[in-house]
Amino acid sequence: MVSSNALLLLATMGLAANAAAVPPQPQLQQAFEIEDYVNEDGSFTIIDLPMSNNEDHKCSGHDSYYQDSFRFHWPYFLKPTVKSESLQSKITLDSLNKSANALYDIAKKSKKEYGHPTRVIGSKGHSATLKWIKKRLSKLSYYYDISEQDFDAVYGRVKSATITFEDGLPLPDVKGMSLTPGVEPFLGHVIEIPNLGCDLEDFLPLAPIKKNSIALIERGKCPFGEKSKNAKLAGFKSAIIYNNEKHPKSFSGTLGDNINSTIATVAVPLEQGEELKAAILASKNKLYVNYAVDAYVESITTTNLIVETKKGDENNVVSLGAHTDGVETGPGINDDGSGTISLLTVAEELAGYKINNKVRFMFVAAEEEGLLGSTHYANSLSPEANNKTRLMMDYDMMASPNFQFQVYDANNIDNPKGSEEIKNLYIDYYVSHGYNYSLIPFDGRSDYVGFLDVGIPAGGIAAGAEGINTDNGKVLDKCYHELCDDVSNLNFDAFLVNTQLIAHSVATYARDLSDFPLREAQAEPKTVANEYKYRGSQLIL
Ligand SMILES: *[C@@H]1O[C@H](CO)[C@@H](O)[C@H](O)[C@H]1NC(C)=O
Ligand SMILES: *[C@@H]1O[C@H](CO)[C@@H](O)[C@H](O)[C@H]1NC(C)=O
Ligand SMILES: *[C@@H]1O[C@H](CO)[C@@H](O)[C@H](O)[C@H]1NC(C)=O
Ligand SMILES: *[C@@H]1O[C@H](CO)[C@@H](O)[C@H](O)[C@H]1NC(C)=O
Ligand SMILES: [Zn+2]
Repeated sequence: MVSSNALLLLATMGLAANAAAVPPQPQLQQAFEIEDYVNEDGSFTIIDLPMSNNEDHKCSGHDSYYQDSFRFHWPYFLKPTVKSESLQSKITLDSLNKSANALYDIAKKSKKEYGHPTRVIGSKGHSATLKWIKKRLSKLSYYYDISEQDFDAVYGRVKSATITFEDGLPLPDVKGMSLTPGVEPFLGHVIEIPNLGCDLEDFLPLAPIKKNSIALIERGKCPFGEKSKNAKLAGFKSAIIYNNEKHPKSFSGTLGDNINSTIATVAVPLEQGEELKAAILASKNKLYVNYAVDAYVESITTTNLIVETKKGDENNVVSLGAHTDGVETGPGINDDGSGTISLLTVAEELAGYKINNKVRFMFVAAEEEGLLGSTHYANSLSPEANNKTRLMMDYDMMASPNFQFQVYDANNIDNPKGSEEIKNLYIDYYVSHGYNYSLIPFDGRSDYVGFLDVGIPAGGIAAGAEGINTDNGKVLDKCYHELCDDVSNLNFDAFLVNTQLIAHSVATYARDLSDFPLREAQAEPKTVANEYKYRGSQLIL
C-alpha cells in the first residue's frame, strides 16, 4: 500500500506551506508532480514516490476520522487539477444512500402540515432541504461562495373540479388545470368558441350578455393560460378546454404563472368536448351546466441557492442545475432529490481539486410550478454574466426505478451552439461504458428551458418519469409525482452511474473548454416559452 514515508513527506510539505503562508512554489510542485497525488479531506493518492510511476500502488485512504470530525484541506495550490477518472472514483454508493435517507427524513418535516412527507415549495420539507444543502456546502466555504436568490413563485392547489348536466349526470373526466383559480358552484351557459381562442377576437363577438357564461375552447396553437386570459377579458366566468387528440390518459395541463389574469379553467378529453358540442347543438345553443372548481392560487417567496467556486476562470463558467423542490403529493426523492444529491455530492468532492474554469452549481426552486426558479435565475443574469456562462447541464431524476439512460436530444441548429457537444459527451460516456441510451425530446420539461431561452447552450440526462421503458414496456418511474417516491423508489445502479457521469461532465469542462464552441450572441429573455408543449412536468399548450 502506501509508503508511510511518502505520506509523511507530503503531509509535512502541505502543512509547512500552509503555516508559513508562502506563495506557491512552482519548482516544488513540478519536481514532485504533487498535483497527481494529493487529494482533499484527508485522503491521499500516493504513488511510491515522485519519479516512480507505479499506478498499482494508488491508494485512496478515506478515513472516518477525517471525514466526520475534521476535514483537513490542502491549500489550493497543492490540490491536483481535476481529472474525470479521479473525481468519478470519489462518488460512492454509500454516500448517495446516506444522503437519500437524510433527504427523506427532511421530507418528513412536512408531515404535520400536509399529512405526509413532501418537499413542495412553501413546506417545511423544502426549507429544510435548502438548509441541509447550505449546511453541507458551508463547510467548504474556503472553496465555494454561496448566494441565495429569493423570488416570487406561484403555488396552487386544486381540490376538486366538477361539471354536471342539468339532469344531474356528471361529465366524467373533468380535471382542474394547475394554477387555476377556484369558482363557487354556479349554473352557466356553455358557449363554443371558434378558432382555438388564441385571439381576443375569437371571444368578443360572443361576449356574454349574461354573466354566468362558460367558454368551451379547443386545445391547440397557444398556451392554455392565453385561452383562459382571453376568456376572462371577454367577460366569461369560467372555461373548459377540450383535448384536440384522443389520448388514453386523462387530459390536463397548467395555466402557468398568470396569477389574477385567468378564470377557473378545467380540461376534458376530446370525447367529452365533442359530447358538449353535440349537447349545445341539440339544445339550440341553450346548454346549461353546473360548474365548480375548488382551488386556490397564491404567491409565495422561495429561494434559489447558487454555489460557485471561488477559483477558476470567471470568464468561462461551467454551470449545472437540479431542482430542490418536489410536488405536494410526495417526498420527491427521485424527482429531484436524486439530482440534488448528485450535485451536492459532486460539489463536495470537487473541492479536493484545482480547476481551470469556474463551476456554478445551481440548486433551483419551484421547478414543479413551471420552471420558475431556473427561469428567474437565467433571466436575472446580466449580459456580461450571461456571456461568461459557457454551458448549462440539467440533472433531473437520476435514479428512476425502471430506468433507461436518457439523453436530451439537443442539437446545434435549434439550440444554442454547444448543446450538441454536451449531448455527445453523455452519449460517449454511456457507449464507452457499455450501456444503452435513448434520446428523449428536448421539449421544455425541465430547468434547461430558461437557459436556452437566453442563448446558453444546454443539455442533460434523465432516468425517466411517467413514460414507458422501451426495453420492457413498463413505466420508468411508477412513483412519479406520487407518495411512494421515497428511498425505496431509487435504483442505486442508475444513481451511481449517472452521478459518476455528472462528475465526468463537471471534471471535463472544469478542466478544459478549449474544444467547446464559443458563446454566440445571447437571445432576448422570453417570458413565455411558447414553442414548447411542456413547461416542467405539465402541458402548457
Ligand atoms: C442503504 O443503507 C441502508 C442502511 O441505512 C441499507 O439497509 C441499504 O441496503 C443501503 N442501500 C444500498 C443500495 O446500499
Ligand atoms: C392578485 O389579487 C389579489 C387580490 O386582489 C392581490 O392581493 C394580489 O396582490 C394579486 N397578485 C398579483 C401577483 O397580482
Ligand atoms: C461576450 O464575450 C465575447 C468574447 O467571448 C466578447 O467578444 C463580447 O464582447 C462579449 N459580450 C458581452 C455583452 O459581454
Ligand atoms: C441494449 O439494447 C439492445 C436492443 O434493445 C438489447 O438487445 C441489449 O440487451 C441491450 N443491452 C444492455 C446492456 O442493456
Ligand atoms: Zn423534476
